[in-house]
Amino acid sequence: MARPAVLLLLPGLVLLAVVQSGPEGPPSLVIALIARNAAHSLPYSLGALERLHYPRDRISLWCATDHNEDETLDVLQDWVEAVHPLYHSLQWKADVAPRWYPQETGPKDWPKERYEHVMKLRQEALTYAREKQAHYIMYVDADNVLTNEHTLRLLMAENKTLVAPMLDSQTGFSNFWCGITPQGFYRRTPDYYPTRNRQRSGCFPVPMVHSTFLIDLQKEESHGLAFYPPHPKYTWTFDDIIVFAYSCLAAGVQGYVCNTHRYGYVNVPALPHQEIEDDELNFVHLMLEAMVDGTPFRSSQFVYPQPKNPDKMGFDEIFLINLRRRSERRERMLRSLYEQEITCRIIDAIDGGAMNSSDIKRLGVNLLPGYYDPFSGRTLTKGEVGCFLSHFQIWKEITERQLDTAVVFEDDVRFQPFFKRKIIRLMNDIRSAGLDWDLIYIGRKQVTMDPEQPVKNVQHLVVADYSYWTLCYIISLQGAQKLLNAEPLSKMLPVDEFLPIMSDTHPNKEYKQHFVNRNLRVFSVHPLLVSPTHYTGEPSWQSDTETSTLWDNDNVRTDWNGSQKTLKDTRGDSPYVLHSASHDEL
Ligand SMILES: *[C@@H]1O[C@H](CO)[C@@H](O)[C@H](O)[C@H]1NC(C)=O
Ligand SMILES: *[C@@H]1O[C@H](CO)[C@@H](O)[C@H](O)[C@H]1NC(C)=O
Ligand SMILES: *[C@@H]1O[C@H](CO)[C@@H](O)[C@H](O)[C@H]1NC(C)=O
Repeated sequence: MARPAVLLLLPGLVLLAVVQSGPEGPPSLVIALIARNAAHSLPYSLGALERLHYPRDRISLWCATDHNEDETLDVLQDWVEAVHPLYHSLQWKADVAPRWYPQETGPKDWPKERYEHVMKLRQEALTYAREKQAHYIMYVDADNVLTNEHTLRLLMAENKTLVAPMLDSQTGFSNFWCGITPQGFYRRTPDYYPTRNRQRSGCFPVPMVHSTFLIDLQKEESHGLAFYPPHPKYTWTFDDIIVFAYSCLAAGVQGYVCNTHRYGYVNVPALPHQEIEDDELNFVHLMLEAMVDGTPFRSSQFVYPQPKNPDKMGFDEIFLINLRRRSERRERMLRSLYEQEITCRIIDAIDGGAMNSSDIKRLGVNLLPGYYDPFSGRTLTKGEVGCFLSHFQIWKEITERQLDTAVVFEDDVRFQPFFKRKIIRLMNDIRSAGLDWDLIYIGRKQVTMDPEQPVKNVQHLVVADYSYWTLCYIISLQGAQKLLNAEPLSKMLPVDEFLPIMSDTHPNKEYKQHFVNRNLRVFSVHPLLVSPTHYTGEPSWQSDTETSTLWDNDNVRTDWNGSQKTLKDTRGDSPYVLHSASHDEL
């Protein structure tokens, strides 16, 4: 009885598929990729292209590379050879020499010939697509990573002549402009940030899209589009993206940017005002940010990133505290550290939530008399006990192994750009200055508003006032010894209250009475070099210290309500301010 039903269904399905994609299958497409000095990003941008959900026999690739000073040519050549048989066709244009333009002063310099060359290449790809009668052409820059495998279908469904997927970045930058001046320059408009930050979501008409965008060549109005030569009436500055924006205007083509979905990422090139210029490190930071968003980059199956050489940044040990059951956090931190060429030793966090109150007491833990959380009015949670014990076990290991300096990471850390270089530079400055230090916060929440005292001869370091959190810190052997000597288990309070007590910056005199030698020398980097990945109340926020049960009562559940401690810090020390008040939209 079931057999005929299946037979009846199948032809219906086949018919539906044919109707949806037309008689020759889905629309044909040319993907145009122009790469220069992008060896660090190509394995990921190519990996993303490989994973696009679209029939490969409907895609033709058009790839060009020249003027390289790195391995771009080899990477792209290997890839092209490997994927050639998988796609409908492939056009490959590569020049080994010259490596730079005659007037070029450095990799950030764009002389006129360089702009002109890029325009000509884009035009060549367009001509190729038109001659093939392809239905669409999509341009992708070599440092754009389309993590969303459905990007092509989603963009085609918009049915626009010119449409760009809004790409995220490490800063306020993206691949569109919301405004353009009468002279063709970037104009800041009130719509930019709400669009970039997805407070307004949809597909919006914009005067400029660049980097990654799709052109529907079946639409009549697309016939007027050109990348080169510039329109006869063109008087604006000679810049490839502005020349194309003018061409759109002249052809009456309205471009759109869509931000409904997350489509992928664009690497923000190093800017002249940045302390450290390094496209590769910028790209590493982009990868780390994408991991925080939950969309890690995946390498090509055919070409691979250069292996990294992780080290301990000159410290004797780097510890990463992670609860065994939080494996996604562990994986993210391990990869984040690896990408920055940092090794670490994983310390299994003590899972307070898995202990009952008698286990805790058996470990010799007792509450600091009179302690209660100033915000929620409750005493210690089991999570807070577990967190304290985890840090305590590291301090013990430091003294047992006589480690002169060590770094301690928790596993919910978001990194600032150039983290490793800045840490190494800081430690060099500290050594040269002969500073006597016990503990240095790399990430924290500053509790008071007062300005802190800078440290002589050490840039970006202050004497730390009352601070919360133990996200990431550097600790010396002497510092670990002082913390152990205080015998804190028998008079426990949260570890991030204990540290300020030991440096005598805690405002509560009664708590301090229980600790005699409060001479821990505590400093903080400023600005901070890490922040929490998520904050209280954000959808993805998860805490093991604040959501558990009370340390001495297995029945009283606690949650984060009322704890200001983990709320986002909106003051100056927070690296977050950088993300919202970015100067480098352009
Ligand atoms: C796509 O847009 C064109 C106008 O450019 C319109 O005529 C056509 O009906 C649209 N197709 C769909 C499926 O909406
Ligand atoms: C606490 O857990 C231990 C095992 O870890 C168990 O032996 C003990 O009975 C438990 N105590 C209570 C009060 O539940
Ligand atoms: C925590 O706050 C939420 C929202 O304000 C509320 O719904 C919930 O009942 C609170 N929980 C406790 C234990 O107070």
